[in-house]
Order: sequence, then C-alpha cells, then structure tokens
Amino acid sequence: MSSTDLTALNSRFAIPGHVQFKEGPGGLIVAEIANSLAESTIALQGAHVMTWLPRAQEPVLWLSRFGKFAPGKSIRGGVPICWPWFGPHAEDAKLPGHGFARTVMWEVLETRVQPDGATFISFGLIETDATRAQWPHSSSAQLRVTVGAELKVELATRNTGSSPFQIGEALHTYFHISDVADMEIKGLEGCTYLDKVGGTTSKTQQGAIVIESEVDRVYLDTEVDCLIEDRGLKRQIRISTRGSHSTVVWNPWIEKAEKMGDFGPEGYRGMVCVESANAVNNVVTVLPGAEHILQAVISVEALA
Ligand code: BG6
Repeated sequence: MSSTDLTALNSRFAIPGHVQFKEGPGGLIVAEIANSLAESTIALQGAHVMTWLPRAQEPVLWLSRFGKFAPGKSIRGGVPICWPWFGPHAEDAKLPGHGFARTVMWEVLETRVQPDGATFISFGLIETDATRAQWPHSSSAQLRVTVGAELKVELATRNTGSSPFQIGEALHTYFHISDVADMEIKGLEGCTYLDKVGGTTSKTQQGAIVIESEVDRVYLDTEVDCLIEDRGLKRQIRISTRGSHSTVVWNPWIEKAEKMGDFGPEGYRGMVCVESANAVNNVVTVLPGAEHILQAVISVEALA
C-alpha cells in the first residue's frame, strides 16, 4: 500500500484519540487503536488483531517476537482468521490450510466511538480472482472488532448468492500466559474432542485441561465460556462465544514449535490457543440471503 493510500485511509477513517493508520512491521498497514480502556493493533492484511492490552494489564494476546511480518504470510500470534475452511481443505490439499482469509487484504468499512469509550472498527474481505478461484460462492465476509475493557470480535459471513454453502472457521486466538505449567483451561470438562496428536481419536475431557506435551484438539458441540486460569499472572481470561460450536485447543510444544521456525526458543511456553470455531462436524451451512456470525468476547478477571 502506498503512502497516498495511507493518507486516504487516515482522512476517511482516523479518529483522533482513537484510531490512526500507520505502516507496521514488515510494511504491513495497521490500525492503531488507543482509547481510555485499551490499546490494540490490527493489520489490514487478514483483518488480523495482533495485540489487545486492556489498561493496567499485561498483554492478553500472544504475538511471537520471531514472527514473519510479510505480505501474504500469516502472522504468528494475535487472532488469525481461519475462513472459509478450518484445517486442510476437504478436497484439495494444495489449497492453504485454514483458508485464505488470514493472508489476503481486507478493507476498512467503518470506525466509530462507542458510548462507553470503546472503539469499533469493521473490515470487509477483498475478493480477487485468486480468492474466487478457491471459493466459488457468492458471499461477503466482514470482521467487526470492538476494542474496550473487553475485546469483541465478530466474523460475519453473508450468503449473497442463490445456493447454500458450508463454511469452517475459527478465531484462532493466541493467548499470552505466564507459563504453560502455571495455567489450566476450564469449561470443557465432559466434552467430546478429537485428539489430533498422533492420528485422530475421539476422547472425553476429564477435569480441567493441563498442557504437558503437544496438544491439538477440536472440542465438539461446545457452547459454554472457556476460562484460562493463569496462576502466574494471577488472572483469568474468559472467552464467551456466540455462533461457535467447536473450541480448538492448541499448543505445539517443543519439536513442532522448533519446526515452525517463528515461535522462537521457549515461545510455546508463553502461549496457548483457545480458538472459537466451527470445525469438523460443526461446519455451518449458510442459506441464501442469511448471515452467520461467529463471535468471541474476551475479558480478564483477577484471580483471588
Ligand atoms: C490449529 C490446528 O488450529 O492451528 C493445528 O489445530 C495447527 O493442527 C495450528 O498446527 C497452526 O496452524 P498454522 O497453519 O497457523 O501453522
């Protein structure tokens, strides 16, 4: 994006004391949001929420210090958007894992200040010949983000055509934690999950989730809040969802993180992904004219 575009973007959508657009790492254009409640940086590539810092808190999202910030590369951390499929494409292994939404450009649609002082920004996925070749359906995808004392992220998919289609999706959120050994995830007790480590097997969650080795699980038919209880930071992150029927929990652990190359040494210890999703048997059918919304609201509470 040229500096002229940046100027145009600022003259249309900047709000003093709330939003301005800048060149970020790797030349990616970002919206920098700062209000009395929180700060956040969102890249236009992928409509990718990279950071969210409620006032007087440590970062809530994990963003790799070793990430590759470059056009067409997914950012390791924050909230990558997996859409319109989750994981590998069902029929064509050559198509990108987790879909294309996280690596293509989105345009800003609106910025606004909310009555409570939070900042609202929305983005629309820009269709190109390349996206249409991968996803031959008439649709529109929007990401609506509210940056305040809570972080609200809404991925809206509208069917603008005349036949139904099916989507898989996730708000693939990386959370910053003190240390993986000092936290547990609550809320999914008793849920059935697909364990993807060493082949896929179906299991039932017993008690809270503790992570002591590679974890890659799709919890099915989940509706309740998930809590990341972090004893090290003496806080609990709450993830409340709407329109999400799966929860993916992922930590690559030592070997996978080393192979991925953008985690950095020991990076896996300070993060966990708890992804609000619709995956595997929970993929969503969107009927002509309908809009489906996947929403996650993230908040932080002190631990006694
Ligand atoms: C998770 C998947 O959602 O994302 C894992 O369950 C995958 O299997 C992980 O390894 C990271 O994916 P990517 O494409 O961002 O490296």
